[in-house]
Amino acid sequence: MNIVQTENLTKIFKSGRFSNNSVKALDNLSLNIEEKKIFGLLGPNGAGKTTLVKILLGIIYPTSGKAEIFGKNISNHQSRRRVGFLPENHRFPEYMTGEQVLFFYGELSGMKHTELKKKSDEFLSLVDMEKWRKTKIKKYSKGMLQRLGLAQAMLNNPELIFLDEPTDGVDPIGRKQIRDILVNLNSEGKTILVNSHLLSEVELICDTVAILNKGLLVKEGTVEDLTVTENAYIIKTSDLSESILNTLLSQYKAEISSKNDFKYKSSSVEDLNLLIDYLRKEKILINAISQEKNSLEDLFINVIEQEAV
Ligand SMILES: Nc1ncnc2c1ncn2[C@@H]1O[C@H](COP(=O)(O)OP(=O)(O)OP(=O)(O)O)[C@@H](O)[C@H]1O
Ligand SMILES: [Mg+2]
Repeated sequence: MNIVQTENLTKIFKSGRFSNNSVKALDNLSLNIEEKKIFGLLGPNGAGKTTLVKILLGIIYPTSGKAEIFGKNISNHQSRRRVGFLPENHRFPEYMTGEQVLFFYGELSGMKHTELKKKSDEFLSLVDMEKWRKTKIKKYSKGMLQRLGLAQAMLNNPELIFLDEPTDGVDPIGRKQIRDILVNLNSEGKTILVNSHLLSEVELICDTVAILNKGLLVKEGTVEDLTVTENAYIIKTSDLSESILNTLLSQYKAEISSKNDFKYKSSSVEDLNLLIDYLRKEKILINAISQEKNSLEDLFINVIEQEAV
């Protein structure tokens, strides 16, 4: 089931009543986010990622098109009760302590005091901020603010969580902790939308990704499908003799990396098996065969560069 659905969503920002300057932040965007998945929304600066999240939350209105969350039009504010949100560059009141911030936002979302106390304890500990709970926000570092923001987004037990750059400013250990938290939340059945520039991180946790560029959806799919390079295999073997290496080069057009590691591009699985037959006939041990993968970063750069041409 799709938890988020958009259809031809378009947002045009006009910079003044009498000005002709306008920006198409979203351009006929149609995408679906499936229940219980971690969905990564990627794209260069200004691609429209934050605009999409703001529209889904009813913070700004689309110029045209349609969007639904939990099967209800986004104009229905009831469905927003089931959503958690960590905004990009959020600002909490500086005179409050971390704990007060959680109480403030918890009360805004209608949580009862006893539940709020229990949940804020639980989440402050989960994001490793217990010892800073009585410290004022103005003394928090960027990473600490992000951790608190994440606790705030999880507080009212939302089924759907929007996180706009959740690991921005967080150190590597903190980023790993946040990834683990997201994977845990997901295993509890939550659906998560992550806007991020950190592609290697997205690759580690997201099931599906969409790449936006200038408001347009330019690529969408599972991380697995998008990163596999079709029909290219990395084959690791026992040591290959000079004559076998020559045969691999000349007959199989293999790309040799070392005397026990090469890449083979086959046009079919049958071809790959013929190569294996040959190696086995020569008494070569095959240690591993894996399909070659591009990183999400390679894909991202390729896609955005192609769009620029
Ligand atoms: N309130 C606004 N008024 C005018 N233009 C806006 C407004 N908000 C966003 N834009 C423009 O819309 C486009 C998309 O912006 P958006 O913030 O959605 O990008 P983004 O993908 O989140 O970028 P980043 O990765 O830098 O956060 C940009 O060109 C931006 O300048
Ligand atoms: Mg943004």
